[in-house]
Amino acid sequence: MIHTEKLTKTFQVKKETVEAVKGVDIDVAPGELVAFLGPNGAGKSTTLRMLTTLLRPTSGSATVAGVDVAADPAGVRARIGYIGQGNGGGHSFRVIDELVMQGRFYGMNTSDATARAQELLHSLDLADLAKRTVIKLSGGQRRRMDVALGLMHSPRLLFLDEPSTGMDPQNRANLWDHIMRLRQEHGTTIVLTTHYMDEADSMSERVIVIDHGRIIADDTAARLKANLAGDLLAVEVAAESAPGVRGLLGRAAAGGEVQENRLDGVVTFRLRLPEGARIAPSLLKDMNDAGAPAQSIELKPPTLDDVFLELTGRNLREGANQ
Ligand SMILES: Nc1ncnc2c1ncn2[C@@H]1O[C@H](COP(=O)(O)OP(=O)(O)O)[C@@H](O)[C@H]1O
Ligand SMILES: [Mg+2]
Repeated sequence: MIHTEKLTKTFQVKKETVEAVKGVDIDVAPGELVAFLGPNGAGKSTTLRMLTTLLRPTSGSATVAGVDVAADPAGVRARIGYIGQGNGGGHSFRVIDELVMQGRFYGMNTSDATARAQELLHSLDLADLAKRTVIKLSGGQRRRMDVALGLMHSPRLLFLDEPSTGMDPQNRANLWDHIMRLRQEHGTTIVLTTHYMDEADSMSERVIVIDHGRIIADDTAARLKANLAGDLLAVEVAAESAPGVRGLLGRAAAGGEVQENRLDGVVTFRLRLPEGARIAPSLLKDMNDAGAPAQSIELKPPTLDDVFLELTGRNLREGANQ
């Protein structure tokens, strides 16, 4: 559905050159749901804008829905839906009219467009709001209407740029329910961007992590976490047992750092343990055998934020890019 080779975009701002996207190779198969995850300024929107023909690549190539973006931009646009970042201004049209106009824009006749609009309003929980004017919608309702607009012409491929930014957690979850259902019902391929790592973590099968215009990871969230970050293990032992377990834990960390804190006769060790849930039982047994039993343990699975930290040395939440 998407194939790019060394896709690159450089902006010239006065005398300065901004390398927004630095040669990305992306492959997306039909039916996939893919999240571009990265901090502000990483190059997510610029990549999407090239794939949707809103920006001409500086170099490299991209084929989208089987059509080359440079050779036939109109052909690409006819086959895709695109919902840009942030809402447009207010609209004084009714929701249903806005949708029908969009369908007409894509060459549907009024009765087909009306039928399609009703269907989408229904599946996006907007049926009761069909006759409301767009400016009166709440943020979450407006974003769902945006999704309906992008789907009017039944594209096989839908691009969403930060669909949930600015929404409260409940509306975000609700929008996601709808996106997942549309995907199940229609098999739509969905490519979206987000800077919320927890969102990419819980919703997307595949995450492409972008930083400084480059792809730094491309896999399922689960595999990225398993391969890169490792579970975080905290073990408390009596201070007199600490010397006995230091070496054991150091070997378990396989070269990773083991932090050590002493408070009131108790020492807490913290380390990253690949496949922690599988390793921890035998580690605890070894500690017992060494006469240095754990007083308590805590095992936390890693987050995508840990993955980002591991890859870049920076925290994604801090958005330390700019
Ligand atoms: N039209 C433009 N002119 C100049 N620089 C731009 C333009 N659009 C984006 N940029 C720059 O390109 C980089 C990537 O931006 P963008 O793709 O919007 O990032 P993201 O969507 O990941 O936040 C940033 O440094 C941004 O300032
Ligand atoms: Mg953006």
